Amino acid sequence: MKNKSLISINDFNREEHIRILDLAEAFERQPTQQILDEYVVASLFFEPSTRTRLSFESAASRLGARLIGFSEPASTSLQKGESLRDTIRTISNYSDIIIMRHPREGSARFASEVADIPIINAGDGANQHPTQTLLDLYSIRKTQGKLDNLDIVFVGDLKYGRTVHSLVMAFCNYNTTFHLVSPEVLKLPSSVKIHIKDKKLTYHQYTDLNAVIPQADVIYMTRIQRERFSDPLDYEKVKNSYVLHNQMLEDAKPNLRILHPLPRVNEIAIDVDTNPMAYYFTQALNGVFIRQALLASILGVVE
Ligand code: CP
Repeated sequence: MKNKSLISINDFNREEHIRILDLAEAFERQPTQQILDEYVVASLFFEPSTRTRLSFESAASRLGARLIGFSEPASTSLQKGESLRDTIRTISNYSDIIIMRHPREGSARFASEVADIPIINAGDGANQHPTQTLLDLYSIRKTQGKLDNLDIVFVGDLKYGRTVHSLVMAFCNYNTTFHLVSPEVLKLPSSVKIHIKDKKLTYHQYTDLNAVIPQADVIYMTRIQRERFSDPLDYEKVKNSYVLHNQMLEDAKPNLRILHPLPRVNEIAIDVDTNPMAYYFTQALNGVFIRQALLASILGVVE
């Protein structure tokens, strides 16, 4: 993995995913180690973020790296008309690795083509969010004890949800049964479903969430992504499509865990937070260990 960019979850194979998960376990046991003190990490966020940016910055800080970057692109020379190409080429002279979130699909791949240092995609538009996927895999392996033979229910904005796209693709490496719950207008794109079909795995599509809860090992809730709609009225029509309440979980399997990449708007009621099946805040914590494993592997300080 040394010097490899991570743009799509499929840039790393199943064995590499498992290697990152195993390394993350070691970092969870010992999160503070001075192993990146010779490295500069650039954190470039062209789009808002709480968890991804701060967990990457926490991960890098706990390993002794120095950080540069921005979370307000308005403070950079992009405002003067500089291109993304020139921005990336310049910052690649100042750092050893770039973590980048950008609203445009394909922007992270583009950055990896113009930079001569590795790029980690921290989310590119509605396309992919591979580091979220690795922390989701970590969370699921930790809570289910396995990744194979699970019934995973994806709920909400399956059209624009980049975390869903990456996670579905990752779970195509396992014998997964996919349950896809969304409004008609927010179904999982064919370009993602094709990966399920290629592996001859099963998927079912629903508009009603209640019917599928008793079969679920994992419910992966997602927010309806207001910022991806070109017409605000279209968002208004679907924004309250799903709200998970505690009482809906009465017939759930005991091993069920509820995940959410966060941020949440209203799709999980607050009463679920105290249910032992709720795992989303621990899931966000797991992001630190996964991102430590990624930085250490790609910078080549661990095998
Ligand atoms: N899960 C996630 O990407 O959250 P942020 O947008 O807060 O980074």
